Amino acid sequence: MKLILAGATGQIGRMLLRDLAGERDASHELIMLTRATKSLPAETRLPGVRVITWDARSLGPWADEIDGADAVINLAGRSVNCRYTKTNLAEMLSSRVESTRVIGEAIARAKQPPRVWLQMSTATIYAHRFDAPNDDMTGILGGSEPDAPRYWDKSIEIARAWEETLFASPTPRTRKVALRAAMVMSPDRSGVFDTLARLAQRGLGGAHGSGRQYVSWIHEYDFVAAIRFLLAHEELSGPVNLSSPEPLTNHAFQQILRHALLAPFGLRSPEWLLKIGAFFLRTDVELLLKSRRVIPRRLLEAGFRFRYPDWPSAAIALASRRAVSK
Ligand SMILES: NC(=O)c1ccc[n+]([C@@H]2O[C@H](COP(=O)([O-])OP(=O)(O)OC[C@H]3O[C@@H](n4cnc5c(N)ncnc54)[C@H](OP(=O)(O)O)[C@@H]3O)[C@@H](O)[C@H]2O)c1
Repeated sequence: MKLILAGATGQIGRMLLRDLAGERDASHELIMLTRATKSLPAETRLPGVRVITWDARSLGPWADEIDGADAVINLAGRSVNCRYTKTNLAEMLSSRVESTRVIGEAIARAKQPPRVWLQMSTATIYAHRFDAPNDDMTGILGGSEPDAPRYWDKSIEIARAWEETLFASPTPRTRKVALRAAMVMSPDRSGVFDTLARLAQRGLGGAHGSGRQYVSWIHEYDFVAAIRFLLAHEELSGPVNLSSPEPLTNHAFQQILRHALLAPFGLRSPEWLLKIGAFFLRTDVELLLKSRRVIPRRLLEAGFRFRYPDWPSAAIALASRRAVSK
């Protein structure tokens, strides 16, 4: 299989490369598209992974690699873990839409287009809601929810534009999947789990805000297995939720996290305190306060089985791997 991975120097790309390069054989070719012209993170410098530069915006020699490839996975996009300033929001949008558009152009020009294009999207596309879960067939897309701050609509606009660019690309011979991923939990340094674990170990592992908002998440192992599943299952196209089947409230999520880390207590963080913390950490409270209640109906109906369907088993596994790797 010839596989093209764009934006793979980030957290998710590194976990996919770890897995895919680990199983590489002579007939399995991995190509990484990156904007980096100098040093790459050590975790991405794996034997057999070929590195090609692109600007994530315009066609270039990199596009020749798409011709004849079996699959493309595009993860590129400016990190959303930042302050939602006008400039950052504009970059979050353009980096996603432009990289998706240009991959579509490269596929459209290919004599032998890839059979499948897995395009990163996000579970944030769904409405902020508490009453019922959003699955990938009947879920309600977000925007204009009465109980959400108006600026949260921006993330939804970005996610919608991202998916619209994917589905509008004229690539009739390529199956397209939008990966509506929840937070991917791995023990890697500076990942979401590591950040929450650090706070919990300092006594800051209580509920965030009201604690009523739902947290959707997926364990690294299941995320990678779902990617392999989607590559293989030709009947699956369109939006697919990548999240564990058991989202839970932030209050329960934090309680189970503390238990897994043997953290004896956790101070609750009211919304005003989170806002101050987010300002100093150069991030935004939407990441913690939006209610993301997402379930993976299409994966389950297609026969995908989760190794870590529930948060207690995932949190214990992640906490012990994190302790070993320290
Ligand atoms: N991590 C999660 O839990 C999660 C959950 C849902 C969705 N997602 C989405 O999945 C994608 C990958 O997530 P991640 O956590 O691996 O993100 P990440 O660590 O921020 O990495 C994203 C990659 O995108 C490329 N990139 C960064 N800024 C860019 C820009 N301005 N223009 C074009 N490319 C740019 C970078 O690759 P190069 O520097 O090599 O070009 C970077 O390594 C992101 O789009 C993210 O929004 C992530």
